[in-house]
Amino acid sequence: MRYRMTVIGTGYLGITHAACMAELGHQVLGLDIDADRVRRLGDGELPIHEEGLAELLRRGLASGRLRFTTDYREAADFGDVHFLCLGTPQRKDGPAADVSQLDAAVDALAPHLTRPCLVVGKSTVPVGTAARLADRLRTLAPAGEDVDLAWNPEFLREGHAVRDTLAPDRVVLGVRTDRAERTLREVYAPLGEVPVVVTDHATAELVKAAANAFLATKISYINAMAEVCEAADADVVRLAEALSYDDRIGGRFLRAGLGFGGGCLPKDIRAFRARADELGAGRALSFLGDVDAINLRRRARVVELARELVGGSFEGRRIAVLGAAFKPDSDDIRDSPALDVAAAIGARGGAVAVYDPAALDNARKAYPELGYATSATEAARGAHAVLLLTEWREFAELTPGRLEPLVAARNLVDGRNVLDPAGWRAAGWNYRSLGRR
Ligand code: UGA
Repeated sequence: MRYRMTVIGTGYLGITHAACMAELGHQVLGLDIDADRVRRLGDGELPIHEEGLAELLRRGLASGRLRFTTDYREAADFGDVHFLCLGTPQRKDGPAADVSQLDAAVDALAPHLTRPCLVVGKSTVPVGTAARLADRLRTLAPAGEDVDLAWNPEFLREGHAVRDTLAPDRVVLGVRTDRAERTLREVYAPLGEVPVVVTDHATAELVKAAANAFLATKISYINAMAEVCEAADADVVRLAEALSYDDRIGGRFLRAGLGFGGGCLPKDIRAFRARADELGAGRALSFLGDVDAINLRRRARVVELARELVGGSFEGRRIAVLGAAFKPDSDDIRDSPALDVAAAIGARGGAVAVYDPAALDNARKAYPELGYATSATEAARGAHAVLLLTEWREFAELTPGRLEPLVAARNLVDGRNVLDPAGWRAAGWNYRSLGRR
């Protein structure tokens, strides 16, 4: 069965979800309050860098199954299922999540809901949000009890968003009624065989927080090992490799380096802790404070390594920063470790030249005070140190020979452990990295 559905909020998650649902054959109306964004999406213009998504967007528009609007009344009239894909960033005044966009969307949609429908939350939220929104919908919607709510968290990774949505490893349905479960099973039926976990609202909300907290913990675990390796003159890359053969541990998310950033993991572990505190379960998640601290220490460590390499002070030194996106194959710079390091070096008097294959425009807007280059080689020209901070493939493929004629000094920090230390050292470079001798 094909549904008429809306997708409210056209950020990363919303655009991907809308385009993928249209691809599955549903009739989809995307809604955003940003009229310019809606117009551009309607013209097939994708505001983010995401493999395969532009094609899906254009295909959806061409098929007539995908449209965009700013009008909540139109959305309420159109949809039998309404997906909430609003952002829940960290609050400006503390660690908790800011759910105001979600609240505003529910407040704007509810008064137009005059017939039975299912509202489905996909955003990452503090546990308890679904129950609160369900009450609010019942109170504000003319259809009252006939407006059902489900929570269906999203696990997509930037850079793999389309694949993660069309071939997910699991679907989690937090529902209160059999009808909601049936509807969502039908919505996702075109995906084929996928494990489905059916549970209550609170558990579904927690699954997402727990998954991201686990991933962040795994990264910080190996980065903690990197700190110990540094102290013990050992090699964290070999250590991680040896751990990875134990399939109870597994090798994924065990890449030591500059640590995690982005619009999800950092803010999600803080919000999770803040919510557990509110619930009186703060002690259970106090370790996430360490996970966060280990992660941030890696950024400070790279600044320190670079400072040592350039002789103890950044004054009068040129630093090439390779990478601005929080991870490769993305133009997202939210809480980017690379830009954090670049800004810290700039603030200490270094002249940085940042290059990134996709995120330069975003970086320039957010950090206009930094210097930028239009290629890795241009960034390296005259540099007293080269820092590889986001592991784009083109950086991992750099050779000593390419940079040597350009740089002022052969100093390199491999912040992602993607280069071969022996080769660079043999070519006369001072190669430093995180967790490797
Ligand atoms: C993350 C989760 O992986 C998704 O499952 C989740 O749906 C998403 O957040 C979300 O909440 O929306 P994403 O932020 O796209 O996805 O990025 P990841 O691939 O998880 O990488 C996060 C950060 O960890 C990056 O900065 C990456 O460089 C870093 N990382 C990753 C490491 O430092 N080491 C690793 O071994 C793996």
